[in-house]
Formats: sequence, structure tokens, C-alpha cells
Amino acid sequence: MPKKIAAGNWKMNGLRAALGEARAIAEGAPSGIVTLLCPPATLLAAMPEGLATGGQCCHTNETGAHTGDVSAEMLADAGATYCITGHSERRADHGERDADVLAQTEAAWRAGLTAILCIGETLEQREAGRTLDVLSAQLAGSLPEGATAENTVVAYEPVWAIGTGKVASPEQVAEVHDALRAQVGPDMSLLYGGSVKAANAADIFELGNVDGALVGGASLRAADFLPIAEALAAR
Ligand code: 13P
Repeated sequence: MPKKIAAGNWKMNGLRAALGEARAIAEGAPSGIVTLLCPPATLLAAMPEGLATGGQCCHTNETGAHTGDVSAEMLADAGATYCITGHSERRADHGERDADVLAQTEAAWRAGLTAILCIGETLEQREAGRTLDVLSAQLAGSLPEGATAENTVVAYEPVWAIGTGKVASPEQVAEVHDALRAQVGPDMSLLYGGSVKAANAADIFELGNVDGALVGGASLRAADFLPIAEALAAR
């Protein structure tokens, strides 16, 4: 059975003053699911007990002359057990391509982290009817050999639904997740991400092949994130 995961991606948000929200999330996290926060690397070591934590990306090397980068081993050393790889914002802002995402995913594994590998189509690709082909190619290009339900989670994040308030419809999510399930096997967790809020979470979690969510904006506050985690736990 896939693990149920309510994951928050804080992106480039969060000073130490935000640790109170993380504590409130840890204290209110429902049992029976993984509640996970991926804060900026600067906050990882200060995150409270009672939560799983993850990085948002990693360098592919363990150490070296790479000013400003953070390795998967450093994330693990700071307490992380997960690392997001291939987020569309990394692809857009830093030119990360499928081969880079594959290498980062292998680096995450090397450090003992579970990779949360993100894939997603643009609006243009969806409107051209290419969604399933694009996603299948991204997965083929970025999921390393040796992926298992223990070391990898796949997150479907349509680029047009991220931070836009436009959540994919249950039919759109179901179509993609059913296709992904056929590609990755029965046990790997499949998360949906893109404008997930308390108000739409339950409808998404009802879908058979959705095992949780990767939440951006609504993960910054306990009052917004805990109802999403609760909706997942209640499914
Ligand atoms: P939003 O929930 O803010 O749309 O962000 C989704 C996301 O990119 C999570 O990784």
C-alpha cells in the first residue's frame, strides 16, 4: 500500500519567526499519515520534533567547490529524510533538465533520503493534448533505475496550477494519476500538487490513485495546512 503523505513545500518562505507555525503543524499532525514540511535549508535543523522534514533540491555531489549549493548529505545531516527533486520552479529558474533531476534523485538516495520527484505539464502542452506524453517522457528521463516505493515518491504538479488558484479538476488528476500508477507500480506514493487548499483537498484525496498532496502556499500556516492533512488522514 502506498504511504499517505501531506507534504508542505515552503519554497523561499520562512524566517525563524515561522517556526511557531511548524510547531503548531507538528503538534496537530494527525496520526496514520506522514506529515512533512520542506522548509528553506536554513530552517531545517531548527524544525520541531514530530514532523518529517525535507530539502527542496540538492546538489549532485557530496562536497566540493560549489559555492551556495547544498548537498543531499547536508540535508540529511540537518535532519531531513526527504528531498524534492525536479520542481518546475527549479526547472524554470535554474534550467534543471530531466537528466539533472535524475542525478539529484540519485544523490538524494545516496544520502538515504526519499526523493519527491516532481513532474508536470505546461498549459500549452495540456491544450495541445500532450499531457500524458509529456509526463511519461519526464518520468522516463528523470526517474533513475532502482526506484522503489521506499526511496521515491512522485508528485504530479501541473505547472499551470501552481500558485495560480487553478486546481486541476478531479477528472484531470485522476486521468494522470491512473496513468502514473500503471508506470510506477502499486506501492509508490503519488502526490498531487497545485493550488491544494482545505476547500478542495477532500475531493482530490477521494481519487483512487492519489496518496497525498504537495502543498505550497497553504502549507505556510498551520490553520491552512492541518485541515488538508486531516482530510488525507480521514480518507
Ligand atoms: P501552490 O500550492 O502554492 O500552488 O504550490 C504548489 C507547489 O508548487 C508545491 O510544490
